[in-house]
Amino acid sequence: MKSLKLLSSLAFTLIACASFSQSDSLDKYILTPPPSPKPHINGAEVFGVRPNSPVIYKIAASGQKPLHYEVKNLPQGLSVDASTGVITGALKNAGDYKMEVTVSNALGKNKRNFTIKVGNQLGLTPAMGWNSWNCWGLSVNADRVKSSARAMIDKGLIDYGWSYINIDDGWEAAQRNADGTISPNEKFPDMKSLSDWLHAQGLKFGIYSSPGTRTCGGFLASYQHELQDAATYASWGVDYLKYDWCSYDSVYRAEGDTTDAAFIKPYTIMQKALLQQPRDIYYSLCQYGWRDVWKWGANVNGNSWRTTGDINDSWGSLTSIWSRQAPLYPYASPGHWNDPDMLVVGMLGWSDNLHPTKLTPDEQYTHISLWCLLSAPLLIGCDMSKLDNFTTSLLTNDEVLALDQDILGKQAQQIIKKDDYQIWVKQLEDGTHAIGIFNLSKEAKTIHVDWKELNLSETLTVRDLWRKKDLGKFKKGFDTKVNSHGVELIKVK
Ligand code: GLA
Repeated sequence: MKSLKLLSSLAFTLIACASFSQSDSLDKYILTPPPSPKPHINGAEVFGVRPNSPVIYKIAASGQKPLHYEVKNLPQGLSVDASTGVITGALKNAGDYKMEVTVSNALGKNKRNFTIKVGNQLGLTPAMGWNSWNCWGLSVNADRVKSSARAMIDKGLIDYGWSYINIDDGWEAAQRNADGTISPNEKFPDMKSLSDWLHAQGLKFGIYSSPGTRTCGGFLASYQHELQDAATYASWGVDYLKYDWCSYDSVYRAEGDTTDAAFIKPYTIMQKALLQQPRDIYYSLCQYGWRDVWKWGANVNGNSWRTTGDINDSWGSLTSIWSRQAPLYPYASPGHWNDPDMLVVGMLGWSDNLHPTKLTPDEQYTHISLWCLLSAPLLIGCDMSKLDNFTTSLLTNDEVLALDQDILGKQAQQIIKKDDYQIWVKQLEDGTHAIGIFNLSKEAKTIHVDWKELNLSETLTVRDLWRKKDLGKFKKGFDTKVNSHGVELIKVK
């Protein structure tokens, strides 16, 4: 008995060492300095809401806790919790409500302008949050969702603007109720209380369905129950719907009409159903980029639309998705985003069996840099309760995330495309530019950037965003050594 105990404690120590050495070895790839204990306001500078819809908006701010939040010119109808920074309430009249946010702690204060735009546009900056699919697949359950939400708070991601907690496929009961309404299955005993709990933390709640009879995972979907489902989601407090084509294919083929109009129809039906709800629901179209969705997604109020098939954690998948994004830059704008699919960093698995992402650290820097340059929705796809230091650092660099959340809402343009490297440039609201210099080759290489080729001024000041470091003034151009499959992400002015 004693020797058995000894053996099991030895095994435990070995396992603990193995997992420690794994995250330990990734620590050396961290480029971003640790966050300052002084207060700093992060996240988007605008938030869109419809008249009378409930507002739940958490002011994202990092710095040593406790933090104190104040908002000057907060319009009537809204209030802010001074200790959590969560703004709640509703606004009746359309318009731009400009305010000044101050966050303070024992070490100082930080101020920033913030605008709530009341009108008919949601998702004025791309959604940032978590989705269950790339980690849990169909084995998602309420505890797993809650543990990722808990980690979003405890590991400080919420302080950088991460806010949506989205359940993907696998939550639906096998049968509809007698009145036709949909219920969750036994893995989600109480959707309303899950949603209330998320909202109380300042987080938002997302759900998944399909326009056909079945979801991609074979669960019940919304065909001919769209309005009823939208009302059920609203009653649960849902803030985000991913609407995934899948089995609608057989519906529209059976109807014998495969025109673009017939393809778009189910998304219009759900659009109308969502618009009738007394709360705002971010509408995420999922149809793998078919029928040039970027050309009509905004017309059905799509806040984002998938541009490709499903991602996985391989360089091949990343580059294949990447290769299709360049022509789509004119279609991204505030409220309407191209979605190259969810993030594949951290512990993934699409099932009960999780594994660390197969992307190398450099490939992960490329992945996050590219998605931010593309103004893509950022949905973390891993088990966040197992976030290691490297992945946390990758997801909490405020200067990198600010590119994604820039209120101008322009997607980066691919300016230089060679076999072994690419240069993408994103125009930012403050008149500066972000530049991603990507090395696609198998060796580290020095890449020369010629300002003129990028249509930029002759002399530019360069800041390395991952390292948060000013690199100085550069006349005519800039040389940088980039690791294989890695990136140098800079901001120039
Ligand atoms: C499709 C989507 C995925 C995921 C699954 C769920 O494959 O593209 O993102 O939602 O369905 O079944």
